[in-house]
Amino acid sequence: MDEKNEVPQDTAESSSAASQASIKEQLEEFISQMNADNVVIPEAAKAQLLEIASQVDNSVPGVDSMSGLNEIRNKVLSKAGSLSGFMKNLRTASQELKPALGKLANFLRERADFSFKAIEALLKDKELQKKLEAEKLDVTMPGISAPWGAYHPNTLVINDLVAIFSGMGFEVFEGPEIENDYYNFTALNTPADHPARDMQDTFYISDELLLRTQTSAGQIRVMENKKPPIKILSPGKVYRSDDDATHSPMFSQMEGLVVDKGITLCDLKGMLDEFARKMFGPEVKTRLRPSYFPFTEPSVEVDVSCFACGGKGCRLCKGTGWIEVLGAGMVNRHVLEGCGIGDEYTGFAFGMGIERIAMLKYGINNMKLLFEGDTRFSKQFKG
Ligand code: DAH
Repeated sequence: MDEKNEVPQDTAESSSAASQASIKEQLEEFISQMNADNVVIPEAAKAQLLEIASQVDNSVPGVDSMSGLNEIRNKVLSKAGSLSGFMKNLRTASQELKPALGKLANFLRERADFSFKAIEALLKDKELQKKLEAEKLDVTMPGISAPWGAYHPNTLVINDLVAIFSGMGFEVFEGPEIENDYYNFTALNTPADHPARDMQDTFYISDELLLRTQTSAGQIRVMENKKPPIKILSPGKVYRSDDDATHSPMFSQMEGLVVDKGITLCDLKGMLDEFARKMFGPEVKTRLRPSYFPFTEPSVEVDVSCFACGGKGCRLCKGTGWIEVLGAGMVNRHVLEGCGIGDEYTGFAFGMGIERIAMLKYGINNMKLLFEGDTRFSKQFKG
């Protein structure tokens, strides 16, 4: 057999021609080439090969599943398949015919395999399309949104206060909620037998340890650790054994402390005016009334002019035109001395109840609402 009878190669050209002509036609073409070269293929072998080619030609176009494809592939190419059956019979063929028949069988195997692979690729592509179709993600669908939380009114007030006072140069210091008796009372000029202790009965953990009753305890911790000038703001929770319509066993305070050379009550008044304007409105004024706290001398109660009625008198200010907002005073000399701060320094301090400010600012008429955790209440402070 000469070179012309070589198995046609699978070039782009031949494969595109192959895709047009059926395998049976290609095989017939190959056989007639062999005949032209004087290689005569016996009728029985020819019929057997053409039968296999038709088998592939006829079944491949109808295959629509991998299992269908495997079935026809096995029928032709497996060990028990029709082509293998043909190959086994080759053993009995004559020496001259063997190579030609082998070439034809190989040609048929390659063409069949090519068809099977093509259909396999098509099926896989179809399967992928189906999967993509099923898993389609609609990016325009509305998402599942998590509900927005809201700041607690106390947090809103603390944030406002920190913003106002840090603008005036105050730093934030947070003291411990479990305090010892010395910081909470004794160092604040309130020794064990002092009557002022009665107003701040608290929860004792031991003889020495208690839940702090006032953020004023933080003043001592700061003055013991820092040399003047001191300018601190100290927010936090405090505890007292009180529980009625207007008192809660746990509430929040904001403490302020300034210690430096030449600090006077005028500085306190000026700072309070600025605080009142920023917190309650530009028209609001402050007024000091004499009071008593063991750790300040002189001590004052601070009122702001009523921001609801402008001072004329209304329900909020109970007709007085003024609203009490905090306690303050010049730091008692005993307290400064106890912390090792010399005569050349003076200072003022102030303390306010956060819940009270929140109730005034947001028109909350019952303090218990601030502790119940009812979301119908807290939702109203969004934004
Ligand atoms: N600690 C006081 C209280 O809980 C409030 C207070 C008053 C704090 C006067 C101060 C102050 O710093 O100077 O009632």
